[in-house]
Amino acid sequence: MIVIGSDHGAFELKAVLVAHLQKKGIEVLDCGVFDATSVDYPDVAKNVCEKVKTGDYEFGILLCGTGIGISIAANKIDGIRCALLNSEYAAEKAKQHNNANVIAMGGRVLGPDLAINILDAFMAAEFEGGRHQNRINKIHELEK
Ligand code: RB5
Repeated sequence: MIVIGSDHGAFELKAVLVAHLQKKGIEVLDCGVFDATSVDYPDVAKNVCEKVKTGDYEFGILLCGTGIGISIAANKIDGIRCALLNSEYAAEKAKQHNNANVIAMGGRVLGPDLAINILDAFMAAEFEGGRHQNRINKIHELEK
């Protein structure tokens, strides 16, 4: 199960990604929003990241206009490693090296096809562990 949320800057991209995941037979919890009414992206980040932290979801997807604000907010939350993605290469590395538990994208930055390819590249990759786990441990040390 994957959890997804967006602000008003990316609700259309969210619908595209939800449909793509469902077509692949993947269950998705869609936390909204569902229209262009203005909301504050830190609230969306908090809601989705709290769900990711329960351990009940494989990972979370956060979307806003650029992906920047919502990824900054997510990375303030202990235990969250949110990767702002603009390419398939970065998506692959975000899993292989950073074991990101949340990915962020921008609905006003990426076209739907690229966003789908980025999501698929992230899901197809495997965390490599080893020295990358040591580095992740050091990231979480910074939370203290
Ligand atoms: C909302 O207008 C916009 O600021 C937000 O979606 C995002 O791009 C912020 O980083």
